Amino acid sequence: MCGIVGVLGTHQVSPILVEALKRLEYRGYDSAGIATLHNGHLDRRRAVGKLVNLSDALVHEPLPGKSGIGHTRWATHGAPTVTNAHPHRAGQVAVVHNGIIENFKELRAELASHGITFVTETDTETVALLCEFNMREGSSPVEAARKTVARLDGAFALAFLFDGEEDLLVAARKGSPLAIGHGDGEMYVGSDAIALAPMTDQITYLEEGDFAVLTRQSLEITDAKGNLANREMRQIKLENTRVDKDGHKHFMAKEIAEQPVAVDTALKAYLDENDAITLPDGLDFTQIERLSLVACGTAYYACMVAKYWFETIARLPVEVDVASEFRYREPPVSPGTLALFVSQSGETADTLAALLYMRDKADVIAGLVNVPESSIARESDVVLPIHAGPEISVASTKAFTCQLTVLLLLAIKAAKAKGLPLPEGMPDDLHALPGLIHQSLASEAQIAAACRDLANARDIIFLGRGALYPLALEGALKLKELSYIHAEGYASGELKHGPIALIDESVPVIVMAPKDALFEKTISNMQEVMARGGRVVLITDADGAREAADGTADVITLPKVPDTLAPILYAIPAQQIAYFTAIAKGTDVDQPRNLAKSVTVE
Ligand code: F6R
Repeated sequence: MCGIVGVLGTHQVSPILVEALKRLEYRGYDSAGIATLHNGHLDRRRAVGKLVNLSDALVHEPLPGKSGIGHTRWATHGAPTVTNAHPHRAGQVAVVHNGIIENFKELRAELASHGITFVTETDTETVALLCEFNMREGSSPVEAARKTVARLDGAFALAFLFDGEEDLLVAARKGSPLAIGHGDGEMYVGSDAIALAPMTDQITYLEEGDFAVLTRQSLEITDAKGNLANREMRQIKLENTRVDKDGHKHFMAKEIAEQPVAVDTALKAYLDENDAITLPDGLDFTQIERLSLVACGTAYYACMVAKYWFETIARLPVEVDVASEFRYREPPVSPGTLALFVSQSGETADTLAALLYMRDKADVIAGLVNVPESSIARESDVVLPIHAGPEISVASTKAFTCQLTVLLLLAIKAAKAKGLPLPEGMPDDLHALPGLIHQSLASEAQIAAACRDLANARDIIFLGRGALYPLALEGALKLKELSYIHAEGYASGELKHGPIALIDESVPVIVMAPKDALFEKTISNMQEVMARGGRVVLITDADGAREAADGTADVITLPKVPDTLAPILYAIPAQQIAYFTAIAKGTDVDQPRNLAKSVTVE
């Protein structure tokens, strides 16, 4: 994964590169580095850890120059050390890379047979060395880069900078997105348009297999077959990219608190005051017979909830798949299929690959994304923005509730298209959702108190039934990623089929059980846990608390909510539990270890 940037500028580029990397840090924060050309000579600075370490290094050892490349890393091959940090350099060549070079071992062996030695454990160093080797064999920098790229298998976005070539940047894309930015006598390359936003809104997106040669005044793109390619330059509208914490201690706290407004914005984008739901052209549910929902992580759990909605409300059969598995099982696709890809970032490589697999198979490809300019949006026939606004915290919160909101609206629209009766109160009750979320945020103090205990646990189990089962999975995922405590989510009825063996007094069990039609059954499962000494934290409403609080360690009481909306509301305590447990443990809330906001490798 990783974020890359390149600038052929008219001013000093170090601060510009660092600013762009700040905007790409969501792609990884294991290490960062930049290389520039000064008086024709390549030089670089690199630092392990967050970008601030690189900025500090640059204060002590500035890097002058008006041409440069930069990188923020999420380690794939080789530990996050300075040596393994990008840019990688071999003689006259410096390279930054996002992706994985799958045949790097063969290439390494080949280079080693020419007596070439390696100093890093990375796949990317091979690219720099191969390019340098091609130059030593007599190729010009551009030809050397072209020959190098032709030898690479895997997924990559690459930018090359060359000793002595102040007005040259070479970029190539296969499998990983890459944007070219056009400035006034300047030219840029970046993993996404947001990275380039402070410099330009004039963007050319490279397509699969493209190879680009940039100077300050020109851009020449050749396609995968080596033919000159004409790629459209677009003016990009970038949404509000303000990225401050607005008085909150963490971005995650801010984003949790923003949910009433974010969900309201998502609702209003599709639902008017007369309860009419308007969808973009190209999505007509009278023509849809089944859905294939594909996503990763939290977005996948949103899809799992949506399956309950589409099946019960719209009577449409739904398959839900984890994107990284989807295309490898080669699913047969029936006519009338809507393939819906859900992704906050719109850049997740697994989800994008699954979308490309479905390209000629599904009737309609829709992307439900938070970033309308993202790769998934650009590859979709229909784009369904979730309007959550920029989500900076690595752990997804407001994007999840906005994804759920838009998915529920789709299920209701599908039911209407089929002339089916809607659940009582729908869609009118949706207007109350932002207010209900606002009320449930008030459980914060209660949750923070419960989490002081949870922080000492080694294992935690989440239970839920029906559409609350995916919420149990989401609660466990969020807790794992933020607090590093082992957590599992189970369908509460499944516990007795094995996992109940884990239960003793050291294992807290968080039970999500609104007082709905499934309440009694979930509470029976909760009793089975308590009978074995399990310490239960029950999340329910006032009626549920009255009936079932006895014997529990803690009860978190949420507002009463229509059954259909419960999964959206119960996301709030799931997020708060993870947040306050992380605070109690002192972990890095916004940038947990080993993670990245956008996962751009398979
Ligand atoms: C968890 C989380 C991840 C993402 C997953 C998919 O808090 O944020 O599990 O949900 O990596 O990312 P997107 O939605 O950008 O495709």
